Amino acid sequence: MKTRFIKLNVNGKEHRLEVPANRTLLQALRDDLMLTETKYGCGTGECGGCTVLVDGKESICSCLTLAVEVEGRHITTVGGLTRDGELHPIQQAFIDEGAIQCGYCTPGMVMKTASILANNPTPSEEEIRRGLEGNICRCTGYEKIVRAVQRASRMIDNSQLRKAGGMS
Ligand code: FES
Ligand code: FES
Repeated sequence: MKTRFIKLNVNGKEHRLEVPANRTLLQALRDDLMLTETKYGCGTGECGGCTVLVDGKESICSCLTLAVEVEGRHITTVGGLTRDGELHPIQQAFIDEGAIQCGYCTPGMVMKTASILANNPTPSEEEIRRGLEGNICRCTGYEKIVRAVQRASRMIDNSQLRKAGGMS
């Protein structure tokens, strides 16, 4: 199969890759760039384990997306949320609410949460549940995950309010 050179910006870093046309973004992330925090679950768009963020807002299943399709766009994986060694409020909220058990679904859940909150910073419980519909967790029963999204929403809201008031 013919290959193509593409540029991928992942977590703020530019990468140049040679990929066959049928290489998925998930394969490019995990196998070419060794960013294994994005999980391979079903490979068919059913579980949400492979969810990443595109251009800071849109969540996509990286198993259903070809690497060539997202050339030039900004991809964020769960590893890209951490800043200067500090967890992102969403990551912290998942820990605080005990929303992580085996952890396999967690990168996808966190990235889907990032997308939900980027589009609607104060979602209702129903909006959260609807937003998480494509992400499957076999361990938690979802209650703690929903609470984690609510907590993250409050944390992000508060930090934005503090910034708006000139406080760090
Ligand atoms: S691995 Fe992509 S949705 Fe399951
Ligand atoms: S914590 Fe195990 S699959 Fe969600």
